Amino acid sequence: MLNNLDRIKDTSLHSLVVGAEEAASWIQHGMTLGLSGFTRSGDAKAVPLALVERAATESFKVNIFTGASVGSDIDKLLSEAGIVHKRLPFQADATMRKHINAGNHLFVDQHLSHTSELIRSGVLPTIDFAVVEAVSITADGMIIPTTSVGNSTTFVSQAKNIIIEINVEQSEMLEGLHDIYEPAAQGSRQPIPLMSAEERIGQIGIPFDASKVKGIVFTNYTDSPSPIVPPDEETEEMAQHLISFLRQEVSAGRLTNKLAPLQAGIGSVANAVLGGMINSEFEDLQVYSEVLQDSVFELIDAGKVNFASACSITLSQEMMDKVYGNLEEYRDKLVLRPQEITNHPEIIRRLGLISINTALEFDIYGNVNSTHVSGTKMMNGIGGSGDFARNSRIAIFVTKSIAKGGNISSIVPFVAHVDHTEHDVDVVVTEQGYADLRGLAPRERAELIIENCVHPMYKKQLRDYYEEALTRGGQTPHVLEKAFSFHANLAKNGTMLDKETALV
Ligand code: COA
Repeated sequence: MLNNLDRIKDTSLHSLVVGAEEAASWIQHGMTLGLSGFTRSGDAKAVPLALVERAATESFKVNIFTGASVGSDIDKLLSEAGIVHKRLPFQADATMRKHINAGNHLFVDQHLSHTSELIRSGVLPTIDFAVVEAVSITADGMIIPTTSVGNSTTFVSQAKNIIIEINVEQSEMLEGLHDIYEPAAQGSRQPIPLMSAEERIGQIGIPFDASKVKGIVFTNYTDSPSPIVPPDEETEEMAQHLISFLRQEVSAGRLTNKLAPLQAGIGSVANAVLGGMINSEFEDLQVYSEVLQDSVFELIDAGKVNFASACSITLSQEMMDKVYGNLEEYRDKLVLRPQEITNHPEIIRRLGLISINTALEFDIYGNVNSTHVSGTKMMNGIGGSGDFARNSRIAIFVTKSIAKGGNISSIVPFVAHVDHTEHDVDVVVTEQGYADLRGLAPRERAELIIENCVHPMYKKQLRDYYEEALTRGGQTPHVLEKAFSFHANLAKNGTMLDKETALV
């Protein structure tokens, strides 16, 4: 039964149940919506889809704020319907990407820990409607979120109006998995009292002001599974290089075989590289991340990971069936928190995380571009990679050394867009090897990166660039008129290869 009133335990709210179309009709041109959802999980689905339907006969635009990317093709449909004025803080949809890059709507690429602060402090527009997916509403007035928490806590506390989507497909067993804690405003805040990945510091649900609840919608849409990209030879080699680096840290006495809490970013590469740890000697591991992908559950199943904290669970269909079909087995090993807490600099620095994120490209000095293809076109967004890289104990970036069949070198003289500066990047890993950049001067970094990480196709070309740069001198030598020559070659010839100098 769709309208399962048993899931609204505060019976005084029963009269607020409405259909998605009616709820969507309250949303007006110029409003700002705070939608639940983080990397295809726990997203509000029925009201955004009803809003898209409304756009067939009516012209309007709204701002769409979320936790991160959303599933059910919602970003695609919102973009196609032409109803997005501004979108933030992250997306990962191919159609929305096209609309952003065509300038059809605005996109603010934001550190994922920042959105809540900017809403709370009034820098971003007030949220007119928070639309959040829930498992249920408790008798004492809390929203139990589903498979992600994202920014829902702040959306609910700051919005003028709240619409709750109770998803009857989401298991009531999710109750008790969440740990909801919202820091006070800046300037009157206490330290966040989280001392370890498995600790709980808040409540099991999101508190709300009942007078702001305008409607409750029942839905049964399932979360969108993430596409499975199995590990390949190169990601396995990258995992081996990462393990070699971590082994070096253990033999130097800086880490033990328990390592330190691990964070791994989105995407197939980070997932495969983390999964590669299954065959390592490391054990009794903890994960303190923003999203838990398949690899974390494979590591839990293998007895390698004993606890995982995040703000979202994003799985392939096969892993979803396994995890949600056996939630009892995993419950005591998991916690879901607001993204403001999972990505908080204070906690990341306190716990001393090892963070592993994916770069599109990095340069010979260690600056990283995670977001802009050829320096101008948005891919997905910075996500949490900046929150983690800047504050972790060891910030690691992984990428294959070449892309698009070798027409692109992921190591370039100068990145065409900077997300993570050389100051925030400790270790870079490709299938060729790794470069530990900590404590190295720029000239030492360039030598090591070219030697260890660059694909053989591009080694001579990068070395020639660097040697010419050395003749110009400087702390960070460059030939400025050639710093983007790789990208210029790509735009002109369809390949970064400079045919005369490359060793093929
Ligand atoms: N220039 C242009 N395109 C490149 C490239 C480069 N230097 N390097 C890779 N690509 C392309 C790949 O060819 C692939 O294209 P396709 O989709 O047409 O096949 C695409 O980028 C994705 O690359 P892939 O190697 O499959 O990696 P991924 O799925 O792991 O995604 C990122 C990599 C960088 C796009 C992704 O990790 C991301 O968006 N990161 C930023 C956010 C983040 O790090 N969040 C972390 C906290 S959760």
